[in-house]
Amino acid sequence: MARRSACIAVARRVAEEARRILRSAGLLIAGLRPAGAGDKVLFPVEDARRALEVLKMQDITAEPCTAEFEERKAGPPRLEGPVKGYTRIGDIAVFSHVEGVSEEHYRRAAQSLVREGVVRAVFLKRQTSGEHRVAVLEHLAGENRTVTTAKEFGLRFRVDIAREYYNPRLQEERRRVAQAVRDGWRVLDMFAGVGPFSIHIAAARRARILAVDINRSAIMHLTENIELNKKKLRGCITPMLADSRILPGFVRPGFEAIIMNNPTMTPSFLPVACKLAEPGALIFYYRVARSCDEAWEEALEASPCPLTALQCVEALDYAPGKLIYRLTLRVTGSESG
Ligand SMILES: C[S@@+](CC[C@H](N)C(=O)[O-])C[C@H]1O[C@@H](n2cnc3c(N)ncnc32)[C@H](O)[C@@H]1O
Repeated sequence: MARRSACIAVARRVAEEARRILRSAGLLIAGLRPAGAGDKVLFPVEDARRALEVLKMQDITAEPCTAEFEERKAGPPRLEGPVKGYTRIGDIAVFSHVEGVSEEHYRRAAQSLVREGVVRAVFLKRQTSGEHRVAVLEHLAGENRTVTTAKEFGLRFRVDIAREYYNPRLQEERRRVAQAVRDGWRVLDMFAGVGPFSIHIAAARRARILAVDINRSAIMHLTENIELNKKKLRGCITPMLADSRILPGFVRPGFEAIIMNNPTMTPSFLPVACKLAEPGALIFYYRVARSCDEAWEEALEASPCPLTALQCVEALDYAPGKLIYRLTLRVTGSESG
């Protein structure tokens, strides 16, 4: 059966790359087959404007269109029973444990994902724990392997999901933050993990980024990820294995932007951010809270330097009644006020 849909048209020679980018951005309509039209390939998309924007960022020229597309016979298997969804990281799927869903249900859902070739390995995440914010995983089906390569907007991230934090649901957020940085800025990524914020920024801007994390394994993958993406990077990234608390002792202050993506701990790091920020700097401050107001009032109380809140957005779900908010803060003076 055919269905009419909005689409974007790209030249055949860049079609494969365009497909990869659109798929990793979640913009392709999975149930419809792309179609050929002369020297062009047409991709069915939900939001043509967004698709054009995303491709333009990767220097791919595309045009909006509307066309008929064949429906695919069978998509990925629909999960049966109480298991409703999963997070896909590269070729691995992760279920987040929900109270009341049995292990047997998870195992059956995991086996169907592997059987249908959707992913190669499936794990159950019981919780995220410790200072490194690492998932506690139980193997359910497929290969018992936790290292994979995730893709975000054409960038690649090597990650060991049993030893390092990584969440693909933040990809849009990282892109938005990268767009807010300007060429020539010094940027501090205070909790860099395997480097997704730093690498998005370096891909978008000629910025100098200091990427710090306390997890040795994450810094190893961050270093590998800089190499993996080096052809796409305009800015430069310096990885550093350190506790961010001690940075003011040996790092030159004057950062124009600071990324604080450690939402369970952020307020206690504001004194460090204040010491290292240039007056007028932007701080991208992530915090678990019940509301924007709660996150903002807490930040104001914890900060030794004057701040103005420019924006508050919902970045991620966290727990019932709680979200991870991102406050964009401007440092409006020095620590003493
Ligand atoms: C929520 S994760 C965010 C990682 C990364 N920004 C991302 O988006 O994937 C928080 C990170 O902070 C790191 N971390 C925790 N405490 C730290 C500290 N005192 N100094 C530096 N890094 C720290 C953890 O190891 C972890 O990688």
